[in-house]
Amino acid sequence: MTYRTLDGVAVAGRRVLLRADLNVPVHDGRITDMTRIGRLSPTIRELSAAGARVIVLSHFDRPKGRRVPAMSLEPVAKALGEVLGRKVRFAEDCIGVPAQQAIDALSDGDVAVLENTRFHAGEESNDPAFAAALAQLGDLYVNDAFSAAHRAHASTEGVAHLLPSCAGRLMQAELEALHAALAAPARPVAAVVGGAKVSTKLALLGNLVGRMDALVIGGAMANTFLAAAGKSVGRSLQEADMHATARDILARAAAAKCDVLLPVDAVVAAALEPGVATRTVAIDAVPADMMILDVGPATVQLLAARLAGIRTLVWNGPLGAFETPPFDAGTTALAQAVAAATAAGTLRSIAGGGDTVAALRHAGVADRLSYVSTAGGAFLEWLEGRTLPGVAALEG
Ligand code: 3PG
Repeated sequence: MTYRTLDGVAVAGRRVLLRADLNVPVHDGRITDMTRIGRLSPTIRELSAAGARVIVLSHFDRPKGRRVPAMSLEPVAKALGEVLGRKVRFAEDCIGVPAQQAIDALSDGDVAVLENTRFHAGEESNDPAFAAALAQLGDLYVNDAFSAAHRAHASTEGVAHLLPSCAGRLMQAELEALHAALAAPARPVAAVVGGAKVSTKLALLGNLVGRMDALVIGGAMANTFLAAAGKSVGRSLQEADMHATARDILARAAAAKCDVLLPVDAVVAAALEPGVATRTVAIDAVPADMMILDVGPATVQLLAARLAGIRTLVWNGPLGAFETPPFDAGTTALAQAVAAATAAGTLRSIAGGGDTVAALRHAGVADRLSYVSTAGGAFLEWLEGRTLPGVAALEG
């Protein structure tokens, strides 16, 4: 993997178009998670300290080519200014006169944020004219939005071909962490894949069985594998039409000598509700009127023991319905075991995906893994082995 970085790039006095991912979670007009802003800020500080005129481009939400006031980046630009501890200008459009005026007002080291790129239809269609209108605002293009690199949009892909371009520090950190996890991992290497549906993670499982020494399957997805193996999963969520696929994945894992670990016990209940009565049962004794909502303690013990021999772990997806206690117990216990092995220096741990990061935060260990990606969809596509257009455009 060869891509250009900021190393050795002269930025003083130059207009740097920095593609960031300011698509942060907002609830009732307030930003509820500042992670992406915090992780982006070192690149901005570095550029600014080196005398660049930093022009931040980003999408926010999915306005579908229309100007939607509730999807303005203005409040996010304000929050970025607070994190950076400096004035951040805001332009009411990302091309044309408003953008040009904001940029003309910048001195060396100053920062501006331009309005949501997705207010223009040309962004998502990667329209060459729109990409050219963006490119004419800058002298250099720096892409720091790994989490949007699975989109071949004008500001993530098109503009990279029109200006000298390179990866920012966050993009570089994401690529280095994922390279260490998938392309050149210390072995044995294992993956934990959880979540609800086999169907949404099919490509990912298919890629991982050929690369991992062990694959832990959790969440409702495990129910499909258990049912496909002839076990009764009661009223658990599962995909009956994916049984043949699940068996095929298991056969490919066996051929590739990838050890697949499924739950050996489960926490079951009549419904997914807080405070509902629960039982812990062996995996072949799930009552017909109950549903599996978490892995049980024997599974956690088995996984924790297995971790002792693992050198690299990639984690995507929770083991149970962690948003509804007590069905968070399995995921939290595994997260703590992963954090402990990481702290002991025996394990390199890499996690990504919205749910996974929320589960790690819930377990209090989000800052104790080797690397936690800021990406959701892009992290999944990377695990599927796909080429990300925003990364490919920086290669060479
Ligand atoms: C994300 O939050 O995963 C990225 O910003 C991409 O957003 P999108 O799924 O709307 O393209």
